[in-house]
Amino acid sequence: MANITIKEVSEKNIPIILGLLYELGRPKPQNDSDVDSFRKLVKKYIIDSDKKIHVAMLDDTKIVGMVSMMFLSRLNRDTSEMYIPELVVLEKYHCQGIGKKLVNSCISLAKENHCHRIRLESGNQRKESHQFYKHLGFEQSALSFTMNLD
Ligand SMILES: CC(C)(COP(=O)(O)OP(=O)(O)OC[C@H]1O[C@@H](n2cnc3c(N)ncnc32)[C@H](O)[C@@H]1OP(=O)(O)O)[C@@H](O)C(=O)NCCC(=O)NCCS
Repeated sequence: MANITIKEVSEKNIPIILGLLYELGRPKPQNDSDVDSFRKLVKKYIIDSDKKIHVAMLDDTKIVGMVSMMFLSRLNRDTSEMYIPELVVLEKYHCQGIGKKLVNSCISLAKENHCHRIRLESGNQRKESHQFYKHLGFEQSALSFTMNLD
């Protein structure tokens, strides 16, 4: 099995994080100005105290996956909810337990921060990841409604 450790991201990892996000299907930059603004967005995410990014490092040298987290407050709860906007493992490294390690790191952090639950959304087309989440103990609990304004 691959030698994987989970670490908090650092600013020097930003280009790799952007590459992983493109792998997840997030918008690709159209020009240098997009690249610059995407970098700034990731940097802000790293600095914000209510957000976290963890990376999966192979042999302490190569980033092969990442997960982002947000701590959300709810009106009727004293504790936060952890929301996971992005989770991705490089395709070449699928099925080696890396996604599970990343989710476990989210669970540990959520417990440390006394979160009452972890929530995420997964597109209708991502049938494989639905099975992955169910296998790890997540339950399908809601329908997601979206209105695109672009
Ligand atoms: C979803 C994803 C993160 C899973 O990561 P991974 O490293 O391949 O998954 P793991 O190897 O850690 O799998 C963990 C467990 O889930 C199980 N599992 C994984 N995919 C599964 C599937 N499609 N059906 C059933 N079980 C599955 C594994 O068998 C393993 O079980 P075990 O712990 O009992 O051995 C990865 O496939 C990925 O990056 N996909 C593309 C991006 C994506 O869809 N992200 C989610 C967006 S919502």
